[in-house]
Amino acid sequence: MRDLYGVIGDPIAHSLSPAMHNEAFRALGIDADYHAFHVTPENLEAAVNGMKAIGVAGFNVTIPHKQAIMPYLDEIDLLAETIGAVNTVVRTPHGWAGYNTDGPGFMQALKEESGRVISGEKVLVIGAGGAARAIYYTLCREGAVTVDLCNRTVKKAEEMRDESPFPCPSKVLTLKEAEEQLGEYTLIVQTTSIGMHPNTDAQPLSVRNLNPDAFVSDIIYNPFETKFLNEAKKRGARVQNGLGMFIYQGAIAFEKWTGVKPDTRKMKNVVESILG
Ligand code: ATR
Repeated sequence: MRDLYGVIGDPIAHSLSPAMHNEAFRALGIDADYHAFHVTPENLEAAVNGMKAIGVAGFNVTIPHKQAIMPYLDEIDLLAETIGAVNTVVRTPHGWAGYNTDGPGFMQALKEESGRVISGEKVLVIGAGGAARAIYYTLCREGAVTVDLCNRTVKKAEEMRDESPFPCPSKVLTLKEAEEQLGEYTLIVQTTSIGMHPNTDAQPLSVRNLNPDAFVSDIIYNPFETKFLNEAKKRGARVQNGLGMFIYQGAIAFEKWTGVKPDTRKMKNVVESILG
């Protein structure tokens, strides 16, 4: 029987994960299928148990289930537990094991595309949602010099800092303060949804004080270049969109399921061709 994988979310129709993972299976000659499953919050528990009962081999989890799924899993890896969100579920002899591959996926894309040594960076993370938590904890674990935080709701960023299991010097700033002090940072990571299609004119803060030697990363990939990245590029900074993070979070999940490293170039080509 073909192994069955998938992603659960609400909404899920526009997910790029099926195309990306099916391409990876085909490229390796693995007899498996990956489907998008529309699961509403009230059906989450039944869906997780049902997928176990019918022998689904593994699945991804997206908005709005990344936190809510945790009580229905049989084990949760330490990083996912710390982040407080699961995006990848793996079948084990004991049931479902939850992981978070968003942080490691971000880190792999960042290292590859920036060539930077994270342990030397003064970092600013913009945002304090689920994606920010994954990225912040991973950057702290990698030993960045400082990882300061800024967010519209300052209290959320303070909580995120105070809950970090990895010691890491971090100041919490308002968006205005971050804008003023932007020149101090060598690596800036934009994790909010501001600037995402269709609101492409928005940006979380002005980059007028940006250091041109900084590297600027935005986790959005639709559009490929947000206003924030475009403005940063105009000031001479090197930039990166969220496509690499998306591909690598998927590639790390794929490897957890199959034990095989997928061809990330082929995965990226498929996603780029869909996004046009
Ligand atoms: P995700 O899990 O995808 O990171 P989230 O948990 O909803 O999403 O977090 C969204 C982030 O974008 C938060 O940092 C949020 O700021 P608040 O904590 O103040 O809500 C930020 N965000 C979203 N829309 C925003 C806006 N219009 N202006 C400023 N920040 C915004």
